[in-house]
This record gives sequence, C-alpha cells and structure tokens, in this order.
Amino acid sequence: MYKEKVVTLTRPIPQSQVERLQSEFPNFKFNPENRSLSHDEMLEFVRGAHGILSILTDRIDAEIIAAAGPQLKIIANYAVGYDNIDIECATKQGVFVTNTPGVLTDATADFCWALLLAVTRRIVEADQFSRAGRFDGWAPLLLLGGDLMGKTLGIVGAGRIGTAMAMRSLGWKMRIIYYSNKANPILDEMGAVKVNLQHLLRESDFVSLHVPLTRATDKMINAETLSLMKPSAYLINTSRGKVVDEKALVQSLKNKTIAGAGLDVFEDEPTINQDLIKMNNVVVAPHIGSATIETRTQMAKIAVDNVIAALSGRRPPNLVNPEVWK
Ligand code: GLV
Ligand code: GLV
Repeated sequence: MYKEKVVTLTRPIPQSQVERLQSEFPNFKFNPENRSLSHDEMLEFVRGAHGILSILTDRIDAEIIAAAGPQLKIIANYAVGYDNIDIECATKQGVFVTNTPGVLTDATADFCWALLLAVTRRIVEADQFSRAGRFDGWAPLLLLGGDLMGKTLGIVGAGRIGTAMAMRSLGWKMRIIYYSNKANPILDEMGAVKVNLQHLLRESDFVSLHVPLTRATDKMINAETLSLMKPSAYLINTSRGKVVDEKALVQSLKNKTIAGAGLDVFEDEPTINQDLIKMNNVVVAPHIGSATIETRTQMAKIAVDNVIAALSGRRPPNLVNPEVWK
C-alpha cells in the first residue's frame, strides 16, 4: 500500500532526497527541469497524488488541492513560510501541511546580517566601483557608510529567525527592541525590550522583518508606518515581500525619509520593482536567505521525512495544521 503511494515534486531539490523519494515511492512523479511549473501544468501534475512536496513558488490553492483528488494526504512545503498554500482549504479537506522550521534559522539570520552590512557599508557599490577601475587611491570621503556599534536594532517578529538575528548583534553591543504578539524570554534575557510597532519604528536605526505573511502582516510596512522611521534608518526584509508596500518603500527611499534597504524578498516575485533596482542605497537579492548547501539539504530531508511519516500513517513531525491529526 505505502509503496504504491504517489508523491509529486515539481522541480529539483538536493539530489540525495530526490533519490530517497524515488526509492521509497516507485510511483514518484518528478519534473527534473529547473523551472517552476505554471498553475495549469500543476493542475495536471498533481492529479492522483497522495503527497505533494511543494516548493515555495508553487501556489497550492483550492483548485490544486481539488485537482489532486480526495486521496491527497500531505502537502510538505520546502520552506518555513507556507503562505503559498491555502491552509484553510487543506485543513478542511483533512490534508496535512508541513514546513521546514529550525534548520534554516541560522542561515537566514546570517543572510539578514549580510544584507544589513552590505547596505550600511555600501559593499555592492564598492564592488562595482572597484571593478569599474575607478579606485585611484585611498580617499577621505570615499563611499562613507554608517556605524553599527551601539545602535538600536528593531526586530519585527520575534520567532526563531528574529531571535537568531538579535543574538548575532552582541558583538556590536546594540540595543534591541522587538515587536511580537508574545514575550520572548531569550530576547528578554539579553536585555531586549518588547515595544509596540510604532515605538519600534521611531527608535530603530535598523528595522529587520521576521514575521510570516498573514492577513495581519500584509503591507504592515506602508506609507504610514515608514513615515515613523528615522531618516538615518535602514529596513531589512528577509521575510516575505508582501509584508512591505513596495511602492511606499520606493517613495521613502526616493525622498530620503529612510537611509536604505536590504531586500531578499519582493511583493511580486520574481519581478523586482525597477525603481528599487536603480537605487544605490538598496541592496537586492533573489530570495536566497536559506540558500546554503547544508541548509537546503536539511530542508529537503525534513520535507521528505514529513511525506514519509504522513504516508505511513504517522504524525508528520512539522505539522502546521495539527487539527488535522485526530
Ligand atoms: C523561505 O523564504 C522560507 O520560507 O523557507
Ligand atoms: C521561522 O522560522 C521563525 O520563527 O522565524
């Protein structure tokens, strides 16, 4: 029975786990091309699946869940965020949804700091300047950036990644303030202070976003909230693009009401707002927060573990809709 289950994977993940799926499930359905399938292709691709291992660019909506069929048991997302999945619909249909928490926390927090440092110390501009052959000797006023030591870091969303981001600030002796629906004992222990969002935006020299995308966080950073930030402050977003109103962000950057932004995620991926791309005080990356060899391999293993657990009748370890497990 178990061996007959159909599992689908829409594009390559680290090879060892593709092979594991192939050997566990002889009816494994795999698209080996390195591109995302269109929604129409997906409708066809998932038909008859018991397990869907979904990539964060696969939009798993009610139509896809219906197209798979009533035998569908699990959607295992290859990501910690799962806003690409219609979780209400999956739950109603009794389909498990799982994610890959924990293993990508450090890689993502590292990348937040890489972006923060890159934009503050103008690394991308400096690289372009040097490659263009424009370096003609040390200069007192060349490519001046901002300091980090003793500054205030505002963490919006104090989950695993927000906490790891804050912990990495110790070397810079930063003051940490955070916004979260619940107190975070690790941050409190570090002397961090829980504040409301308005207070955080007014006080922070760096604002780093770590909330999941939900109805409550959709465009939580908008013209009004951006206007509270200091003109010398930087915004770092490694969460989801839609948490920020990108047009309002462009305006704030153009009008210099904030100093700069480091962005790994965008409102309408893979499109990046052309105005953002043209600005020197913005560093952009193509959603690679968790992109290390070790982390992506761990994420693949966890996603496959969840598929195997669900299809062999066990509770998937990373269930995000536990109400389905009865
Ligand atoms: C990446 O953005 C993830 O949610 O894992
Ligand atoms: C996600 O892993 C988070 O809790 O930040």
